[in-house]
Amino acid sequence: MSIEIVPLAEADIAGVVDCVQSTFADDPYFRWAFDAAKFKAERNAASIAAHLQFSLNCGHPVFVAKVGRAASDLKTDHEIRLAPGTVVGFSWWTPPEVPALSQPWSVWAQEWLLSFRQLMFNIRFAGRGGLDVRRYWLWKKMQKNALNDLWTDPRGYYYCSLLGVSSQVRGMGVGKRLMEVILQKADEEGISCYLESSKGYPNIAIYEKMGFELNQEITCDDGGNICKLYGMTRKPQIKA
Ligand SMILES: CC(C)(COP(=O)(O)OP(=O)(O)OC[C@H]1O[C@@H](n2cnc3c(N)ncnc32)[C@H](O)[C@@H]1OP(=O)(O)O)[C@@H](O)C(=O)NCCC(=O)NCCS
Repeated sequence: MSIEIVPLAEADIAGVVDCVQSTFADDPYFRWAFDAAKFKAERNAASIAAHLQFSLNCGHPVFVAKVGRAASDLKTDHEIRLAPGTVVGFSWWTPPEVPALSQPWSVWAQEWLLSFRQLMFNIRFAGRGGLDVRRYWLWKKMQKNALNDLWTDPRGYYYCSLLGVSSQVRGMGVGKRLMEVILQKADEEGISCYLESSKGYPNIAIYEKMGFELNQEITCDDGGNICKLYGMTRKPQIKA
């Protein structure tokens, strides 16, 4: 089995949604931000699909790992049988934003479209599908405070909002390949990258191998119910 890394296409959105939901089912942030008793997978899937469509329409860098047809390129002799075209991973980024430059009207329009879609989902699914909105905004506030200190480069940062690899193919270099597409581009452009992980182990070690450094622990404390996120930055690397 071979795995190919390709830019997100509309036809892959459903596969990426499944992959996000399965890879983040045990994620500490996800468990903190969603009420398990009220969780509606369908509402959550609709929201993820709308956000992917937004990223696609805005030309944001989103890459997908898909099972291909070519001979094996995995670091394993163990044969895993998955149908060609199955999505087994994704890396979801936003490009660097320069605060001094005004946002293009096309992005502004896409943001309105996304908000409208979310409003329609709220009506159709009678709510947020278990998302604890207060906790979501608490995270946003804590993240903003952290980034005020961390993001000092006026050229902006590539921000990896989500990375996930299906459990069947973890530890085989797929995550690294998904990240390398943007890390190489960032190096060529001399731009830093940033990500947050709520899973300290093993993710900090994995990201350190990719050149990230742990800069900040962001603690979101909702009356003693705590979610800790590890903010990591990667400076551009100059190849010898
Ligand atoms: C984090 C994740 C994306 C990594 O993807 P992956 O395909 O398993 O990672 P890779 O196989 O490409 O490994 C990258 C490097 O980390 C190392 N690594 C992988 N798993 C590791 C582990 N459990 N402990 C220590 N190192 C590990 C690999 O050896 C490799 O190092 P190398 O460059 O020296 O060869 C994947 O584990 C995952 O989807 N986890 C669940 C979702 C998640 O936590 N996402 C991140 C949220 S920010």
